[in-house]
Amino acid sequence: MGGFNQFELGDPPAATPAGLLETHVQTQQKLEVMLRYWEVWCLIIAQATGHAFCVKCMWLVDGFAGAGLHATNGHPDGAVAGTPVQAFRAAVNTRRRYGSVDVHLRAVDVDKSIAQELERRLMKAPGTADEKPQWRVYRDSFHRAYPKILEEMRADIGHSHSSGPTYRLHNHRSLWLIDPFGVKDIPHADLEPLQNLPGAEVIINLDLGGLLRIKGAAGKALADGDPDAFQANIKAGNAKRLDLTWGAYYWRDDLAKADRSDILRSLAQSYADTFPRFEFRSVYPLRGSRSQKRYLVHLAHVEVAMMRFKGICDGCFLIDTLFARDLSQNQRAVRAVQLWERFKGTTTTVPELYELGMGASRTQIAGICRSAQAGGYGDFDGQRSTMTWRREREPDPVMFPDLG
Ligand SMILES: C[S@@+](CC[C@H](N)C(=O)[O-])C[C@H]1O[C@@H](n2cnc3c(N)ncnc32)[C@H](O)[C@@H]1O
Repeated sequence: MGGFNQFELGDPPAATPAGLLETHVQTQQKLEVMLRYWEVWCLIIAQATGHAFCVKCMWLVDGFAGAGLHATNGHPDGAVAGTPVQAFRAAVNTRRRYGSVDVHLRAVDVDKSIAQELERRLMKAPGTADEKPQWRVYRDSFHRAYPKILEEMRADIGHSHSSGPTYRLHNHRSLWLIDPFGVKDIPHADLEPLQNLPGAEVIINLDLGGLLRIKGAAGKALADGDPDAFQANIKAGNAKRLDLTWGAYYWRDDLAKADRSDILRSLAQSYADTFPRFEFRSVYPLRGSRSQKRYLVHLAHVEVAMMRFKGICDGCFLIDTLFARDLSQNQRAVRAVQLWERFKGTTTTVPELYELGMGASRTQIAGICRSAQAGGYGDFDGQRSTMTWRREREPDPVMFPDLG
């Protein structure tokens, strides 16, 4: 009987000498999506009315968090924020806008030194205690940490409207990012509790290429789009991995029924459909780098979440291409530095900057100003569309924890 060692799972990207991970195209795309969606999701919940759930508390969970930083040559600082830092910032922005909302952030990483690095980073985060989320980093595997997080969420009923006639409906919304290197860390059994959790929404970064990097006759059959030959030739170890990921042997039926012109997308969708309690189940390809084929799997209970996530994914798929409508975070950061060098010590409005003819729309310029604020080049007042440029930069200690 074949073992798992025959199975090549998606390799982690190579670490740079500094121990950081150089970002690949699909990592950049994922980061662009999550940069936008953490914040959009928090705002959807904070603004929700007429629903039978509590909007006072929300939970952001980054189940495979990393250290909070990615090295990249495209950004003037040589690095961009990782997903837990993005979530932290989204929480701060939400609390600035909706002072009465509590945001809880949980980040999990099995690697002790990575988890410690993230903790050190988040401890340096700027902002007042009122603005920051209530956060915690678990130095543990997702498998061991998620029951504890669910327990924490169950215990989070301590606010005043937790009794009375609406008590039974009192539960909190949560957004879970599941972003492992490969599928071996996400057996179906570990994700099933999330579909039973009222109000949970889940994003899984599924390494389908790694899952199907199967060799020999089965690999050839897959490349040829021949599911029958694939099933006849797949090794027991590979089949077992698919069983664990799907939660059962149903992947065989899914494969037999897959659209042969796009087997990978069909399989990604059928994986999403293994979580049927989520009414809205969508998959979005990440632009491939090397041999990796990844899909963002989005599982939601409400249509508005599905539509907003779709809009973001569709837009981010084009980022850094000629067809892009939005600027990437690197492009915004480069322009932010250029504007700061020209306007430091002064105040400018978005319309004034637009009149300069920068080749960017007003919305894009507002995005550049927000990026300038995140980079410590000034303060942006979104209500008044006004940017006050600092004379001296104050770099964000989250990105440079050794400076503080
Ligand atoms: C792809 S990286 C996450 C990157 C992060 N989401 C971001 O984009 O900034 C995956 C992380 O999961 C961690 N990891 C691997 N296996 C894990 C497990 N079983 N439970 C929790 N974390 C795990 C790794 O140490 C690594 O830091």
